[in-house]
Amino acid sequence: MTASTPVSRSKKLTTPEQHVLPSLHVAGRTALVTGAGSGLGRCIALALAEAGADVAMTELSNRIENAQAVAASIRSMGRKAFTVKLDVTSVKSIQRAVARVLEQFSRIDILVNNAGINIPKQALEVTEEDWDRVLDVNLKGVFFCAQAVGREMVRRRSGKIINIASQNGVVGYHDRAAYCSSKAGVVNLTRVLALEWAPHQINVNAVAPTFVLTPLTEKMFANPAFSREIHRRIPLGRLAKPEDVAGAVVFLASPAADLITGHTLLVDGGWTAI
Ligand SMILES: NC(=O)c1ccc[n+]([C@@H]2O[C@H](COP(=O)([O-])OP(=O)(O)OC[C@H]3O[C@@H](n4cnc5c(N)ncnc54)[C@H](O)[C@@H]3O)[C@@H](O)[C@H]2O)c1
Repeated sequence: MTASTPVSRSKKLTTPEQHVLPSLHVAGRTALVTGAGSGLGRCIALALAEAGADVAMTELSNRIENAQAVAASIRSMGRKAFTVKLDVTSVKSIQRAVARVLEQFSRIDILVNNAGINIPKQALEVTEEDWDRVLDVNLKGVFFCAQAVGREMVRRRSGKIINIASQNGVVGYHDRAAYCSSKAGVVNLTRVLALEWAPHQINVNAVAPTFVLTPLTEKMFANPAFSREIHRRIPLGRLAKPEDVAGAVVFLASPAADLITGHTLLVDGGWTAI
């Protein structure tokens, strides 16, 4: 029997040393994380570095020191890190920041659109200014960051974009008319970009966390009644930790998720399963 007979081929396919587990590592890739100086963005940047990526991080100019502290931790892990000032509500600021990252890293393999805000108010109290601010940061910012980085990814025919949405983009929650609308927009924007850029081998997905204790939610959780209600409504009985969200982001950025696009991965402890 020769080495090319069907029997020897099937033996080869079942050899125990064959590797079938796709990589969850992103070694040699470069990532850009917006709003990386605190909360989820900080943890996502550190997790991507731990998974092997060099990481560029953005922050508002008055908080850039926070991103610089994260960059120092990433450098101590042996990865490259770079910080740049960015206000995602300004398209000019986005273009400048992306150009500076490309000067440093020459390409962006992974974009995490994390920067976001919330102005919790009852619907009857929401002002035009509140509405515009939340939509500008959470939805317009995500779109124009994706567009600026997407141009470079389309040229290279490769890239992963991960938008941080929220479970509140999939279900409603009181006092969050603008926030829920912005995050629902992010969920559907994710589908549109996934479809438009699939021919260029770019994956666009979203991660939608339940409540996480971060500077964004600290004040809310200082209210014991709010805290009790949220814990009661999460079937797994606890808030998300930043690490829970970072794990989902690293998965979507990794080769293990190469065929996933247009998807919103809920990290919600079962909230939306009810
Ligand atoms: N904490 C939660 O419970 C929760 C739940 C679901 C989704 N999220 C989402 O996760 C993301 C991160 O939130 P977080 O909880 O870490 O909050 P956070 O306030 O700790 O972090 C938000 C970051 O965005 C930055 N930012 C704010 N406005 C900006 C702007 N105009 N331009 C650039 N950067 C800006 C802030 O400086 C900050 O670093 C947000 O998109 C948020 O909506 C949070």
